[in-house]
Amino acid sequence: MYTLPIEVLLKRVGLEPRHAEQIKQIEHLMTPLAHETALGFYDYLGRDPRARALLWSEPGRVERLYGAFEDWFRSMFAGTYDEDYAEKRWRVGIMHARFGVTTSSLIPAIGFVHSLAMEHLMSVLRPAELPAALEALTKVLALETTLMAESYEVATAMGLGAGVDWKKAPQRGAEMILAEAASRLTFVRGR
Ligand code: HEM
Repeated sequence: MYTLPIEVLLKRVGLEPRHAEQIKQIEHLMTPLAHETALGFYDYLGRDPRARALLWSEPGRVERLYGAFEDWFRSMFAGTYDEDYAEKRWRVGIMHARFGVTTSSLIPAIGFVHSLAMEHLMSVLRPAELPAALEALTKVLALETTLMAESYEVATAMGLGAGVDWKKAPQRGAEMILAEAASRLTFVRGR
């Protein structure tokens, strides 16, 4: 993995242990929302013609992604933000770079999840409980955005290093990273 150490990232976004504890406290309110959020999320993406063309170009893709998105959503509220978490999220970013999804599509999509989650918290929490919960949610989503951005920075640098032009660089770089990871896996399995 090529990302910065998790301690550096947590410090950068200001995600402290008290925020992680706060997230654990709202986990039971948020995880039942995973499926509904996935439905809303792919409906939102489907309204963008480019996202629609990409996502619906392969039969069964969106149906498969519902489950992947739900896992992503639930694990966000598990309150554990360690190296393993960062690596998984980083890989999700690389997958998006590999499919040519741009950061200018990803960041508003994270904003969409943020809005849905906030709306829900505002409807279920008492006013006195809201500020701490919303602050923790914002920190976690800042971490998500940072990890996505990091994936793209590394993928772009690798693509540029391979001589690809800047528009295609993230995609090419992501392909190289995934190919390298796959060859390492083959090596380990073959031993
Ligand atoms: C909050 C933002 C987003 C989240 C949390 C999210 C979540 C995910 C997850 C968890 C995966 C599976 C990754 C894997 O297989 O390792 C995935 C794949 C994918 N996502 Fe997203 N996504 C987001 C935004 C977008 C946007 C804006 C697009 C634009 C069209 C998009 C298109 C795709 C595509 C094409 C794949 C790969 C499909 C495949 O494996 O066949 N995603 N997404």
